[in-house]
Amino acid sequence: MIQSSVYLTGSQPLPFRSLTSAEQLNPSIVAEIFRVTDAMVIVSARAGRADLLTDKTIALLFFEPSSRTMLSFQSAAQKLKAGVIFAQGAQTTSLHKGESIEDTIRVVSSYADLVVMRHSAPGSATTGATASSVPFINAGDGKNEHPTQALIDAYTIYKQVGRLEGLHVTFGFDPRQSRSIHSLAILLSGYPNTRFTFVSPEELRPSKDFIAMLEQRGATCSETTSVSDGMDADVLYMNRLQEERFESRDVFERYRKIYTLTREMVEDKCQLILDPLPRIDEIALDVDSLPQAAYFRQAAFGVPVRMALLTMMLGRA
Ligand code: NCD
Repeated sequence: MIQSSVYLTGSQPLPFRSLTSAEQLNPSIVAEIFRVTDAMVIVSARAGRADLLTDKTIALLFFEPSSRTMLSFQSAAQKLKAGVIFAQGAQTTSLHKGESIEDTIRVVSSYADLVVMRHSAPGSATTGATASSVPFINAGDGKNEHPTQALIDAYTIYKQVGRLEGLHVTFGFDPRQSRSIHSLAILLSGYPNTRFTFVSPEELRPSKDFIAMLEQRGATCSETTSVSDGMDADVLYMNRLQEERFESRDVFERYRKIYTLTREMVEDKCQLILDPLPRIDEIALDVDSLPQAAYFRQAAFGVPVRMALLTMMLGRA
């Protein structure tokens, strides 16, 4: 067994106890997390597991459906030899009986050293972080934010394109309701000369407040309803229409087959195509074999990025 400490040379402590928003992730913090992530990639490849969190317990609370986020957090915790306790689905917990998020988190944080929570209510992450007596990670709070996904996305861009500044990123196709789009746009707007194109039907345009926030952080934003606009960007970031968040099913059904990235649209154009997955209709299947299609590699980075974050937030990197 190779000692993980061989690869970890002492990271800067994170300036926050809990991670609820990508606004907390400035370029120097991101660089530090990526340095530890690189070490975790090596640890995983050479040793499989590392003795970094053997005395820690991580609580995973997924009150909304999840595949990648929940399993990659679980895999990350196990590779660090932490114990894991979890709850899956609000109906299996006392939230279903009417218990508040505050009370649930107050109790769970007395059972664990770090709490990870996904919940359908925007703002629930702030509620959870405030109630928690231990570090807390937002794994998605409704349509609001998903900051750990943004770290995975940015790590993939950094590895594939080689930089995070001066990027043109096109986001499709539900920038109003996609928390993954929100958090990545916030994270990248912290870098100089960032340009965004948001592609969506009229009803799913990003909110004015969100655009104002990105512009205030220095990004240049444009919006279009034409599905084939913005295809010459450095990065195309696709995410499904967020079906479960629509007030009316009509809007979802009307656009789901229209807002699809096809092979002809991107073949000779952008450098990188990302999607936090699950893929529904937003990317045609024959795009997968293009060299720019990196969404399955992106999903695999979920484990080392979350290993880095857990280790750093528990002060062990
Ligand atoms: C995303 C999510 O849950 O917001 N998935 C993920 O975490 N990888 C994207 C989505 O559900 O569309």
